[in-house]
Amino acid sequence: MNPFASPARPPLLGVNIDHVATLRNARGGSFPDPLDAALAALRGGADIITFHLREDRRHIRDADVERLRAQVAAPLNFEAAVTEEMLARIEQVRPQMVCLVPERRQELTTEGGLDVAAHLERVRAACARLAACGCRVSLFIEPSPRQIEAAAGTGAPCVELHTGAYANAVDAGDQAGAAEQLRRLRDAQAQAHAQGLRTNAGHGLNLHSTGAIASLPGIDELHIGHALVGHALSVGMEQAVRDFKAAIARADAR
Ligand code: PXP
Repeated sequence: MNPFASPARPPLLGVNIDHVATLRNARGGSFPDPLDAALAALRGGADIITFHLREDRRHIRDADVERLRAQVAAPLNFEAAVTEEMLARIEQVRPQMVCLVPERRQELTTEGGLDVAAHLERVRAACARLAACGCRVSLFIEPSPRQIEAAAGTGAPCVELHTGAYANAVDAGDQAGAAEQLRRLRDAQAQAHAQGLRTNAGHGLNLHSTGAIASLPGIDELHIGHALVGHALSVGMEQAVRDFKAAIARADAR
């Protein structure tokens, strides 16, 4: 099979609703509701609903997860750290998808990818446990040959490539840096594919940077949160999703 072959469709869009919960929690009440945001995102054409249950519950809370699981028909992508607490929660909730991420309490957002190479046995055991409860597992990693090689040894069927360095270069107007980061992502996808892994991507993407990532060969899903929720403040959630889907479709048509 040609490792550079594109999937037969544009990448699917996973909408991360964490920041709706961040806004709600700023006032401690129940508004705005991340479940309502998820349902609006689905009406706008989202394919997957993504959320991150953090150890400190700073945005999504356990009760949100229960409500999402009960009321969202689309696949849920549960982002979580590789801890006993989170693995046990996932076993209770049984989402369709899990993305294992690194987590540090002090960080503003997920900084960097999971160091699979350094924690191979722990990640491998987590993947086996989650596969046993029917979850499709992906590993959120840097687009580095060492991490992809390690990911291929865990039993996870997917990786999600961290696009933060590319997105930051685009935001800074650093064209050479953005081209270099895009090349790393392209090479990482090709390596992942050659090692039998499906490739998703995400982090830091906005309406300017999404197209180039969507047009990389073989990207299966994009997971986008902060910029999409921010855009929704101007145009509403349904339209925000339509705008990101259109950016993805335009990139695919190129
Ligand atoms: N993918 C993963 C694994 C993440 O941890 C996050 C942030 O929670 C995202 C995608 C979305 O990133 P952003 O909010 O910057 O679009």
